[in-house]
Amino acid sequence: MSQMLDFDDNAARALEAMYTTPDVVGQRAKVIEMLAPAPGEHVLDIGVGPGLLAHDLARLVGEAGRLVGLDAAAAMLKVARTRLAAMPQAECVEGDAADLRFPDASFDIAVSTQVHEYVADIDKAVGELHRVLKPGGRALILDTDWRSVVWHCSDQALMDRVLKCWDDHLADPHLPATLGARMRRAGFRVLRVEIVPMLSPQWQPVSYAAGIMKSIRGYAMANGERHGLAQAEVQAWYDDQLRLAERGEFFFSVNRYAFLAVR
Ligand SMILES: C[S@@+](CC[C@H](N)C(=O)[O-])C[C@H]1O[C@@H](n2cnc3c(N)ncnc32)[C@H](O)[C@@H]1O
Repeated sequence: MSQMLDFDDNAARALEAMYTTPDVVGQRAKVIEMLAPAPGEHVLDIGVGPGLLAHDLARLVGEAGRLVGLDAAAAMLKVARTRLAAMPQAECVEGDAADLRFPDASFDIAVSTQVHEYVADIDKAVGELHRVLKPGGRALILDTDWRSVVWHCSDQALMDRVLKCWDDHLADPHLPATLGARMRRAGFRVLRVEIVPMLSPQWQPVSYAAGIMKSIRGYAMANGERHGLAQAEVQAWYDDQLRLAERGEFFFSVNRYAFLAVR
């Protein structure tokens, strides 16, 4: 049984730090390029998190447009509301991706990055995203497939056990493999699918890789027991990465997949 992440104040701080690193800044540029938001459009950001993408989207639709950021977690909404406070076209609301409280055909754009992988009833959530879009509206869903990880280490068996435990932080750690078919079944026409890599070919202290390493260590320390992973083994896994970094032998890569579709 999976034990999903708690999006509390600590998680909000860690996410905000990780999501201002170059890999994730690049992801947001790619998402904006794919969606091409225009002034005056109405946009829904489902799982708005710290509000970094929402801020860019609100700026692009301008005061003639509208940006609604929705999230299930109060701690994340607090961060997003602070970030968007000066933008009259933006508002944040509490809600569930699988049960959107908006009328049919409310938005020109609905976007959701790194959220649906946490949602247990994924087909309901994709159906809801479809329902709230106007006919011809654009959708973009982006998620990670943790099978795509390439991560150098000294002990592959230990790495495999740590990553197996980490898989449990999501409802579906391999969502991208089925997401296109799910979107088509919901009535979308999928126009474009892009890989968005989180890549550190060498150690960079300020990087997605460095941030996610800490998140995985914290998660595995707290939840490893169910996988027979002792805390000392988790620490050994982490220390191995630091040693490889010191020797100039660090390598990390994982792929996210962005699906652009039209209703
Ligand atoms: C990994 S963060 C991504 C945040 C943001 N979309 C981004 O890419 O910067 C996941 C976010 O989804 C939210 N979330 C998870 N499950 C949700 C659900 N069922 N409904 C709404 N939000 C959800 C979490 O609270 C968290 O803010």
